[in-house]
Order: sequence, then structure tokens, then C-alpha cells
Amino acid sequence: MRIILAPMEGVVDHLMRDMLTQVGGFDLCITEFVRVVDQLLPRRVFTRLCPELKQGGKTPAGVPVRVQLLGQEPDWLAENAVRAVELGSPGVDLNFGCPAKTVNKSKGGAVLLKETDTLYRIMHKVRSAVPAQFPVTAKMRLGFDDTSLALDNARALYEGGATELAIHARTKADGYRPPAYWPWIAKVRAVVPINVVANGEIWQPADAVLCREQSGSHDIMLGRGALAQPNLALRIRDGGEPLPWPLVLSLLMRYSEYEIAGDKGLYYSNRIKQWFSYLRLQYPQAEQLFQQLRLLRKSADIVLLLKQQLHQAERAG
Ligand SMILES: Cc1cc2nc3c(=O)[nH]c(=O)nc-3n(C[C@H](O)[C@H](O)[C@H](O)COP(=O)(O)O)c2cc1C
Repeated sequence: MRIILAPMEGVVDHLMRDMLTQVGGFDLCITEFVRVVDQLLPRRVFTRLCPELKQGGKTPAGVPVRVQLLGQEPDWLAENAVRAVELGSPGVDLNFGCPAKTVNKSKGGAVLLKETDTLYRIMHKVRSAVPAQFPVTAKMRLGFDDTSLALDNARALYEGGATELAIHARTKADGYRPPAYWPWIAKVRAVVPINVVANGEIWQPADAVLCREQSGSHDIMLGRGALAQPNLALRIRDGGEPLPWPLVLSLLMRYSEYEIAGDKGLYYSNRIKQWFSYLRLQYPQAEQLFQQLRLLRKSADIVLLLKQQLHQAERAG
């Protein structure tokens, strides 16, 4: 079984990938999407979003990180895909799942699930441009408004040359409302002879078991569940208990140091609040702390609060 860390724009940045892959259990990460419109993007756009490119395309724990692209223009996507692998990305992932807004006629993500032919053209162009030793993968939902094109879209991506598909088992219209329709992944698997990774609503090890059973997929991709429970991937592999709260607090402290040192002071309070919005689903302590933390704006105040909590937890434990 491979376990892949899902791309999450605005949440899973290189620091979060570093944290979570150090905790362990992941085989691969996918970056937040790079939006491609009508140009070959400068190298710095890639390295800003994926600084791991400067370290051989791997997190410090040694887990490969694949760049994801989002866009609608086959030629520009192909040129940028080539750039991504030249810069060190171990392959390229194409995003056909995000409910991203159309900006100045430039679209991408889930809206393309209405255009089976465009999916084919994009995949074909990108696959033809990227050297064969690099995987070109796609992440898709089951459809835009409904599932009527799910199988045709998967077939089009396969015929276009996709190495592997990851399926978030819901339509765009379903948003993030449970359930994820894992049995649909089995239907897709029946029509494409390539590996299909199952994604959506895996919050606990038992969900992973059920998802693998119902989808028939060996490989899974974890998004929000991995943020709610940083050792979820390890637990899915080896059992054990959720990471104890004091260890989660230590991770939060480390993340804070990195975020602030990484010259992202401006983003820090948003990022940490984002992470908390997931942690509180698993940890009652996070819920309590979130109520205090959400009122704070300054990084220093947040760090101070976390430090106090860590001392308290250490004394108690
Ligand atoms: C805040 C947020 C940002 C996301 N950003 C991306 C993205 O950049 N690219 C992508 O393909 N999917 C993105 N997704 C979708 C996730 O990768 C994943 O498919 C979805 O969250 C379902 O998996 P989960 O139930 O394990 O979270 C995002 C999801 C969330 C909640």
C-alpha cells in the first residue's frame, strides 16, 4: 500500500509536508496547485511553492514531492510540466478536482470534468512532452454536477497517457459533504487498466480499511484526516493510538518556529488557525485552545499561548 499526502492549497505547504513526513507513513506528497494560464512560469514560482525542488524533489525526511498544475491550455500546461520535471519534480500531477474559480476566462480544475475531450487533449499533450521516465498523474472528482461523465473522463485521461489516477470520490457539487462514494472508485478501476488511488473522507484507520475494501484500490490519499491526526498514515500501516496531545503541541511549536523563520509571518496566524480547524475534529484539547487562539492576530501571542499549553501539558503528563 502507498499512502499519499493530498494537495491542499493554503494548508499543506512545504513546512506542513516536512512535519507530516517526519511523523511518517507517507510515500509521496503532491504540492498545492500551480496555476498555469498563458505563459511558461518563471522558475521561482515553482521553487516558492515547492522549495523541495532545491533538495532533489524530496522533503527533509526523504519523501518525494510531485508538483501539481492547474489550467486549461494543453500547450502551456505541457511547457510548464517539462519545466517542473527539469527543476527536479518526480513527475507532474494535473488537477481536475478543484472547485477553482474561473479568472479572466482562465479555468481549470473540476470545471474541465464537463469537457472530456479537453481532459484528453491536456493529458495527451503533457504526457507527450514530459520524458517517459516521469509519471504524469491526474487527480479528479467524479464529475462536476453529477457522475454521468465519470467513466468517460477516467478513460480519456487513461487514453491520453495518464500513469495513474487519484479519485476524490465526490462530484464538485457534493463539495466536501460526506460521504465519499468509494464504490464509484471500483467502477472507474473496472474501465481503466492503470493504478487508481482512492481519496476522500479517510479520518481513521477503520475508514482506510473500508475505503480499500469498497474501492478495491491498494493505494490511498489522505488530506484533512492527516491534518486532524498527524500520525494517521502510521496508524493505518501499523495500528497504535493517535499522537498524544503534548506531542501534537510540540509539533505545533516546531511548525510555528519554521513558519515564522520562513519569513511568512504574515501568513502564520492564518495557517495555524487552518491547521487547528482540523485538529479540533480529533482533539478536544484543540477545540478549547482554538477558542482562545482565534481571537489572537499576532504571531508572538499565538506562540506564547502554545508555549503555555505545552508547559501545562508536560507538567500534567
Ligand atoms: C483547503 C483545501 C485545499 C485543497 N487544495 C487542493 C489542491 O490544491 N489540489 C487538489 O487537487 N486538491 C485540493 N484539495 C482536495 C484534497 O486534495 C482532497 O481531495 C479532499 O480534501 C478530499 O480528501 P480528504 O477527505 O482526505 O480531505 C483541497 C482540499 C481542501 C480542504
